[in-house]
Order: sequence, then C-alpha cells, then structure tokens
Amino acid sequence: MHIVANINDLRAYYITEAYGVRRTVKAVDGLSIAIRQNEIYGIAGESGCGKSTLLKVLLGMLTPPLTIVGGSVTYNFEGEPVDMASLSQAELRAMRWKELSYVPQGSMHVLNPVRRIRDTFRDFIGAHVRAPRREIDERVRAYLVELGLPDKVLGSFPHQLSGGMRQRVTIALATILSPRLIVADEPTTALDVVVQRGVIQLLQEIRERAGNTMVVVTHDMGVHANLTDRVAVLYAGQLMEEADTPTIFAQPRHPYTQHLIRSLPKIDDRSERVSIPGRPPALDNPPGGCRFHPRCPYAMEVCKTEVPLIEQVGPNHRVACWLINEERMGRIAARLANAEPRPLATDTQLTPQRPSPGGARSAGGPEGAIR
Ligand SMILES: Nc1ncnc2c1ncn2[C@@H]1O[C@H](COP(=O)(O)OP(=O)(O)O)[C@@H](O)[C@H]1O
Ligand code: SF4
Ligand SMILES: [Mg+2]
Repeated sequence: MHIVANINDLRAYYITEAYGVRRTVKAVDGLSIAIRQNEIYGIAGESGCGKSTLLKVLLGMLTPPLTIVGGSVTYNFEGEPVDMASLSQAELRAMRWKELSYVPQGSMHVLNPVRRIRDTFRDFIGAHVRAPRREIDERVRAYLVELGLPDKVLGSFPHQLSGGMRQRVTIALATILSPRLIVADEPTTALDVVVQRGVIQLLQEIRERAGNTMVVVTHDMGVHANLTDRVAVLYAGQLMEEADTPTIFAQPRHPYTQHLIRSLPKIDDRSERVSIPGRPPALDNPPGGCRFHPRCPYAMEVCKTEVPLIEQVGPNHRVACWLINEERMGRIAARLANAEPRPLATDTQLTPQRPSPGGARSAGGPEGAIR
C-alpha cells in the first residue's frame, strides 16, 4: 500500500500577540495519519475542530499566525519522500495545482464574478502550462464534457450558474491539471441534497478516471458515508477515531463518533435526534486529559487528567478513548491474573540454553506469558 502523504505528530498552532499578550490556538495538536494512494480519505468533526487548519498545512499554506511547532508532513508522490518543511514557498507554489490541488471551503465565491468561466480557465491554465490559447480552450471543453458539464457554461458568468453548477465548475478547475492529491474543504456544504449527490458523484468519477487521491473535509457524516473510503474523526485538534468508512458506521467505538452518527437524520424515523449538549472547546485553552471529557456521557475520573492513548482495535481501526484503554488493560490484567504462576528461575534457566527444535520460543518465557 503506497502512502502519498504522511502526517506525523503534527502540531500546527495559531500564535498571535496583541498588547503584549500572547495567544496560542492549538488547532492541530499531535495528529498522526497516513493518506494512501487512490483513496478518498474523509476528515470529520464539528466546526472548530481543526479540519481546515489541517488542510492548510497539507497544502503548505502556512501564512502567519499559523505556525508548525512540531511534527512533520511528508509527501511521497513518486520515489523519494519529500519533507514539506524542506520545500521553499516557490517550490510549494510550483507543486500546487499540478501535484496538490485545493477545492476551498465556500468555493462558490472563488470564481471571478466579472470574468466568464472560459477566461477563468484560460488564466488558470495559462499560469501553469505553456500552450497556445486554442489548445487550452479545447482541453477545457473536452474536460468539461468528460465530467458531464454542458460546455455552454464556458460562456457564462458565475452569477448565471446555479450554486451546484458553480461548485462543479470549481471542482473541474481544481482537477483539470490532474493533480495527484486533491484536497476539498466542505465541498457539499450549502448545497441541497440532490445537488450534493451530483457533486459526490463528480468527485468519485474524477478519482476513478484520474486515479488520484483525495482528502475530503466535511462535518456532514452523511457525505462521509456516501463518498469516502476511510474516515478520521477529529475533536479539538486531535484524532479520536480512524477506520474504513463501513467500520466507522457499523462499529463506531469512540463516544464522539457515536454521537456524530446518532445525530444523522434517518429515513422514516421521526423520533428526536439525540445530541450531546455543548460544543467543541476554544483551542487556546483546551480541557486537560481527553478533550471530549466535558461533553462525554461516559467520562471517568481518569479522562479529566490523562490523555488516552490511540489504540489499534482492529485492522485499520484506531481509537483514542479510556474506555478502550481500560478494556484492554483489564484484559491484560485478567490474563496475568489467570496465568499459571511462573516458577522462579533456577541457575540452569539463567545459563544460556540451546534453541528448541524449529527455533520456537519456550511458552514459559516472558513473551509466552503476556501474549
Ligand atoms: N487565523 C486564525 N487565527 C486564530 N485562530 C484561528 C484562525 N483560523 C482558525 N482559528 C482557530 O483554529 C481552530 C480550528 O479552526 P478550523 O481549522 O477552521 O476548524 P474547522 O475547519 O474544523 O471548523 C478554531 O478554534 C478557530 O477559531
Ligand atoms: S476518554 Fe473518557 S471522556 Fe474521552 S471519550 Fe473516552 S470515556 Fe469519554
Ligand atoms: Mg473548516
């Protein structure tokens, strides 16, 4: 499995200073994830959990006050891995759109209102590719047709298109140069459900055709269910759970993920949606321990002071929660309690022994006892 981007213990903070008072917003705080080639990787979580900040870092859009204070982002498009911190702004700009591309949040507003769509495409492609205008126009027309967009949009101004069509044009613009990694921030937010479905299909088609990799941020778990291959659930700048999408929906293990899924509307179910009161904390002073503890219905004493470890609970499934930690520690303790007491080592056992036939370890050894 080829890893396209590796984010390792990333800490990305907004550091500001006003009237001598320093404020540090820990928007992404110790996040480790790996994006696999050709997948659609979803990032979920309520507003204010650090999703857009993570995308800015992935794209190398590091303008103050956003600062990387720890960890790394490594790209591995072909051959040698490249550490983002080693790239200059000029190198990052050169990578953007051709290697890494971006569908920004609220992308309805990114099209120039006084330019026809054709001119926006010409300006954009002309800035990255040397080619005669006729060739550019033909490439744009062919791409729009390929994506099922009517080529008459080329002669239109943005305000003459519906919201859904504008969003599709923006996605076409962000993907026409066949970038390897496409990052989309809330690409379906503010669209009605039918139009949303069209945008989801478009993103899936682009991935199928070009074989690129996508990272899609949305707070809408319904979109994750329909679009993504894997989902990472973020809360207050940290990873709470990650699994492939069917597993996240069938067996959510983290209370926050369970809450996000329970608050999804269901067809034919008119009962009131259960929701956990409150909202994500301000990240300049996040709660200690598990950051979700002030809202968690299962919070225990340990949750208030100790940060839960990320545990692997199944293939491709990771969870950070004391319920899981304790469950596992309880199992280990029970196993140790039930284990046959080991005899004290004798002198002969302390002398080097010949390996047993086949090289197998003795079941009475330390590894045999705890496994
Ligand atoms: N330019 C900024 N300066 C200071 N804080 C910011 C800035 N942009 C975002 N934040 C803060 O960073 C946190 C994460 O924001 P963001 O990444 O936009 O979250 P999301 O995309 O999940 O809604 C929030 O607390 C937000 O207020
Ligand atoms: S660690 Fe504790 S507070 Fe956090 S989600 Fe798990 S049970 Fe709830
Ligand atoms: Mg956002």
